[in-house]
Amino acid sequence: MKFSNEFLFGAATAAYQVEGAWDQDGKGITNWDEFTKIPGKTFEGTNGDVAVDHYNRYKEDIALMAEMGLESYRFSISWARILPNGTGKINQKGIDFYNKLINECLKHGIVPFVTLYHWDLPLPLEKDGSWLNKKTVDAYVEYAKVCFEAFGDRVKHFITFNETVVFTALGYLTGAHPPGITNDPKKYFQATHNVFYAHARALIEYKKLNQYGEIGLSHVFSPAFSIDDSEENQFAQLHANQFNTNWFYDPILLGRYPEYVVHELEKLGYVPEWTQEELDTIAQAAPLNDFMGLNYYQPQRVEKIDSSFQSKELTRENSTGSPGNPSFDGVYRTVKMDDKRYTKWDWEISPEGFVSGLKMLKEQYGQIKLYITENGLGDEDPIIEGEICDIPRINFINDHLVAVKAAIDNGVNIKGYYAWSAIDLLSWLNGYKKQYGFIYVDHQNGLERKKKASFHWFKDVIATRGENLHK
Ligand code: GAL
Repeated sequence: MKFSNEFLFGAATAAYQVEGAWDQDGKGITNWDEFTKIPGKTFEGTNGDVAVDHYNRYKEDIALMAEMGLESYRFSISWARILPNGTGKINQKGIDFYNKLINECLKHGIVPFVTLYHWDLPLPLEKDGSWLNKKTVDAYVEYAKVCFEAFGDRVKHFITFNETVVFTALGYLTGAHPPGITNDPKKYFQATHNVFYAHARALIEYKKLNQYGEIGLSHVFSPAFSIDDSEENQFAQLHANQFNTNWFYDPILLGRYPEYVVHELEKLGYVPEWTQEELDTIAQAAPLNDFMGLNYYQPQRVEKIDSSFQSKELTRENSTGSPGNPSFDGVYRTVKMDDKRYTKWDWEISPEGFVSGLKMLKEQYGQIKLYITENGLGDEDPIIEGEICDIPRINFINDHLVAVKAAIDNGVNIKGYYAWSAIDLLSWLNGYKKQYGFIYVDHQNGLERKKKASFHWFKDVIATRGENLHK
């Protein structure tokens, strides 16, 4: 049960969820700075103005990560710290901050794994059409180049985008994320294409610089499984996987869109506006991907529906990962099942689904190099006599690491595992109630950091390379 020595044990965060310092040192305003201030958008109006103040406490946080024995830290760069208006003038203080953060990691022997885009877009770009505007693609490539040039001598792992499906689907279908547009599939598919094109161009620029690092992107990994063996639900499974996995993975890994989805979009009138040059660039970039990052929380259980299906009203609670919603095209819906386990936010707990999904992925894409760039349990952790007893999190991560090991033993090429999250942080829509970290942050007590039970446990997992995990 040992993980090899080159396998990276890490943990992750994202800038908006941890940094705070929303207007410090010349940072520009972002879409999330604005969106969280709209009444009703987030749980109790929480926002990332202060978050857990990682911007000012990064030294203490990295020291704790080092104490845990973390081998790698995945964090994101806030675009608006580097280019406050999205393009143009560089803010040197923003560059300085990430240099300090990177150097602090390296000082402790922690490998920095850097996400360029984890959803916080400089506001001027948001106002100018966000990911629907091809100018945002140009701006992104400019930003990515600035980051490669400034940090690429020390950062050898770059993730271009985090979870395209989330920021585009919640941005243009459910309206739960900026720009808050509902029910607009045409825009949703257009935004996904523009992101894939931006990813492709960033890869090409990165490779020109000969920095000899790795670059890829992180996708949600949420394989769909039919609720039973019936033919119609098996069809729902295929349809869901085509739209939620292949639409996202094929352009990156194979350099082309899945025919099935393109055909469906033609029927519905939702084919993105794309040029031959864009499609060629996507094809050209596919072999340049060094890895794919998978964020796995849960699978989907799906059932075919027909036109008489009545959808529930979309609320914040049911638009962020809990089952029960119909697909945008009314073909299937996700189902909560009696024989499955769920978190307090109704996300299914399924290490088995992880193993089966990874097998499906290998069958379709071969032995691509993978990192699990997010996996973890959102919970309200019990505090008993001052100790944070997050035993469910320990069990969750234990079972998912066992799944990762089983997949590796089955020939899936997984090179690292990043728990979400290193430290308790702001949930985009659920405030501070939904905790994920190994490190607790006391919001009643000046944001003081405390080690949870899982901190000590994960430290032992890393030190023993997983030898003591329970099967
Ligand atoms: C992911 C996202 C993270 C975090 C996580 C847990 O979708 O990348 O930023 O919010 O979900 O809810």
